[in-house]
Amino acid sequence: MCKKEGLKVKKSLKRFTLLLGVMMIAFVLSACSGESSNGRSSDGGTGSGVSVGIVLPTKDEPRWVQDEQRFKEALEGTKYTTEILFSQGSPAKEKENVETLISKGIKVLIITPQDGAAAAAAAEAAKKEGITVIAYDRLITDTDAVDYYVTFDSFAVGEAQAQYLIDNTKGTGVPLYLYAGAASDNNAFLFFQGAWSVLQPKIADGTFKVANSSEAVALQDTAELSRDQLSKIIGQVTTNWDPNEAKNKAQTHLTAAAADMKGDVAILAPNDGTARAIADVFASDSAITSYVVTGQDAEKASIQYIIDGKQSMTVFKDVRTLVKDAMGMAVSILDGKTPETTGSYNNGKIDVKAKQTDVIVVDKNNVKKEIIDSGYYQASDFTGLE
Ligand code: BGC
Repeated sequence: MCKKEGLKVKKSLKRFTLLLGVMMIAFVLSACSGESSNGRSSDGGTGSGVSVGIVLPTKDEPRWVQDEQRFKEALEGTKYTTEILFSQGSPAKEKENVETLISKGIKVLIITPQDGAAAAAAAEAAKKEGITVIAYDRLITDTDAVDYYVTFDSFAVGEAQAQYLIDNTKGTGVPLYLYAGAASDNNAFLFFQGAWSVLQPKIADGTFKVANSSEAVALQDTAELSRDQLSKIIGQVTTNWDPNEAKNKAQTHLTAAAADMKGDVAILAPNDGTARAIADVFASDSAITSYVVTGQDAEKASIQYIIDGKQSMTVFKDVRTLVKDAMGMAVSILDGKTPETTGSYNNGKIDVKAKQTDVIVVDKNNVKKEIIDSGYYQASDFTGLE
């Protein structure tokens, strides 16, 4: 062996040792990151990475912790490899979560966007890698990178809330307080649109008088609102899905309200978290003699409020069904089949094939049957249940 060749061998030996070192460090690191701090990994013992990635918006609302729990229950004992990550209200964190899951080799992404429009970038990044994107509960808007949508009938949620207000108030000129979800959530539009379709004729004929939105008053003779018109009203009465913001708004509205906007009132509250906050404010105003307030999600705290007569109703969306549908879709895709859908939703760019689930109105009359007897929650979670 000549000197030059010996040097070459030495050099490549050095490179090889270096490479081996790097590989060993990478191996140790990947072994350590098998389970993320806010997620769940289960590879069914195959050690083959993650096949379905699930991204949920925030742990701060019981609704999404409930979804996480139901996903975990549905996945127990199955062979599917999944990981659940939370975005904590941040579209940037959401994008990062999607990138993490892409790097783990997911084939299907199930995602509830924090912000429907901002999530388009995350969906597009996944799509580029050949991943099938399923929007879960909230639609991702203005992109063609979303393949499927699994959802409750959100228009029907709003319709049911509005009908409840009509059925549970008496007389005419009933003060009506309107509240909405976050404008970054497409569902907030669907809920409000559904509610408006039922309430508008009753506002126009004087059964209700809107107490807290000049935009709604200006549009009270318009049966079908455009997206822009909806935006105007939602812009005034949004809670941003934040109970604190809901509470502050309710306080401001009651401070500003004239005497004829008090007494027996009706309140359209978009979901349970905001309903409880708003109800507490109305309950503490001595000029409010009674209130009917809507909700949505059947959160445990609101079921207790309903039993206690502090919240009038909730729209029960059985998350077990949504989880089953989403996982069923993911499994069909992994098996190379076309998932079953029941209709479609336009997301501003394309019609997204959708699977839709019905909702159930729950108040004190049927709370035991729908929530306890159905096995959704345990009776022992509540007090005062008859
Ligand atoms: C969901 C509701 C939830 C709300 C706030 C909506 O998109 O459909 O169930 O209460 O977001 O998180």
